[in-house]
Amino acid sequence: MAKMQQLIAANWKMNKTIKEAVSFISEFKKLIKNIKNVEIVICPPFTSLQVVSNELKGSNIDLGAQNMNFEDSGAYTGEISPLMLKEIGCEYVILGHSERRESGENDSLINKKVIAALNHGLKPILCVGETFEQRRHGGTEDELEDQLLKCLKDVANPKGLVVAYEPVWAISRGNPSQKAATKADAEDAHLFIRKLLEGMYGEEAAKNTRIIYGGSMKPENAKELLAMPNIDGGLVGNASLDAKSFAEIVEAVG
Ligand code: PGA
Repeated sequence: MAKMQQLIAANWKMNKTIKEAVSFISEFKKLIKNIKNVEIVICPPFTSLQVVSNELKGSNIDLGAQNMNFEDSGAYTGEISPLMLKEIGCEYVILGHSERRESGENDSLINKKVIAALNHGLKPILCVGETFEQRRHGGTEDELEDQLLKCLKDVANPKGLVVAYEPVWAISRGNPSQKAATKADAEDAHLFIRKLLEGMYGEEAAKNTRIIYGGSMKPENAKELLAMPNIDGGLVGNASLDAKSFAEIVEAVG
């Protein structure tokens, strides 16, 4: 079965000033100018979205945000709405990242955000993943199923949805020596997620939904992870902060 076009997304987290973002984009665009077979997304912090949007005009790189509120507008101090992200040119939005779950987001809130994103034509990159303790006790599949079912409640059509499998224990938190999941463990989880999607939306829709891997993906391991049959791309944190290393990951797509 031919794989769908892979998606490699940069999650910059709380990194890069506007100036640093601009200098990254100008270097990165040169490095990937001949790459056609991969969809690339950059998700900077809110403060750099506008300038990165300007810098990406005319390129084959898409823009994404790292979070959003589910309401269009209102008295929500410190929040950003889907309308605002659309206006700036965002195509994608990361939702339910474990670093946001740690600061209080739960599946029911994430579900509202997924629905709002899809309603506004934003493609959600929905993050799901188990903790080290859950894996150690054999609870990985139960956790993935629980998160996925709750976060996709009342989502009738998954068109545009991307699921990111991010085992919490593999996320680098800025440590470049952190180990990623093995390609076999990652593939097992991706296949499990694919089967869940199949049960929810049917075979065709499940086949057309990208399931990408996140957690210490880097130039050294990207090729073997991205070659697995059910891994359709990567969500890259630490290794996306350097233009050369992020370009190497993009190049690792076969
Ligand atoms: P990492 O982050 O690549 O630094 O592990 C990935 C993520 O948290 O999205």
